[in-house]
Amino acid sequence: MTVTDEVLESFAHAKDERFREVMRSLVKHLHAFASEVRITEAEWLAGIEFLTRTGHITDDKRQEFILLSDVLGLSMLTVGLNEPSQPGVTESTVFGPFFVDGAPEIQQGGTIAEGVKGTPCEVSGTVRNVRGEPIAGARLDVWEADEDGYYDVQYSGDRMAGRAWLRSDADGRYHFWSVVPASYPIPHDGPVGELMERAGRSPMRPAHVHFKVTAPGYRTLITHVFLAGDAHLKDDAVFGVKDSLIAQVEDRDGTPHLTFDIVLGDDQ
Ligand code: BEZ
Ligand code: FE
Repeated sequence: MTVTDEVLESFAHAKDERFREVMRSLVKHLHAFASEVRITEAEWLAGIEFLTRTGHITDDKRQEFILLSDVLGLSMLTVGLNEPSQPGVTESTVFGPFFVDGAPEIQQGGTIAEGVKGTPCEVSGTVRNVRGEPIAGARLDVWEADEDGYYDVQYSGDRMAGRAWLRSDADGRYHFWSVVPASYPIPHDGPVGELMERAGRSPMRPAHVHFKVTAPGYRTLITHVFLAGDAHLKDDAVFGVKDSLIAQVEDRDGTPHLTFDIVLGDDQ
């Protein structure tokens, strides 16, 4: 019996069937990976040290493991595997590490940009279901970086800015004020940054606004709207861009305006 067989066997009697399936597959693929590259002991230790540093830099404001999953494409693979099958539903993308619970509620036409550096930009759209019916009272959580590419949590102190939530109105419409999003590098001063540097990869993400949209009876949507024309649409560090999520910033009487219409899938 090989060590791989022994380990697989050690999970064979786990009571939870899904746990058993996931762990056995993980062991099978981890062992296959180590065998395929004939991993040396020094390399294995370097891997352990990398994961240890990833853990040490992670706290309640910095999530280096999500970042690692993102730059390895594992987050987008997971998003794709769980995408609803109903046609017409707005596509999902990475959640990212910068969502924070407890953001303030704003009313229609309110701003998330209080104290955020940047050019004011109005964002509006509708929330509908796949039958084209408006969804009233959907909750939209929105968050974005400032024009320097930083989220509030990347500054010192506990100031919350550039994030809020609002509800769609009776016709499924929403609108709020923000700032024109800018492209920005993912945090690259930690282990994930070293990995990117070593790979010769850019840490940049194209400009975007994050949305998490929830409504009873519908599947939660986690997505972004990306800005057309951004130089990084083709080399997003976390592979999150989908063509259907790219929108043009229009000039409305001298004011930038972004339209993003959302279709939620049925909760099945
Ligand atoms: C973000 O868009 O906020 C983000 C996503 C993945 C990694 C880092 C940042
Ligand atoms: Fe972001």
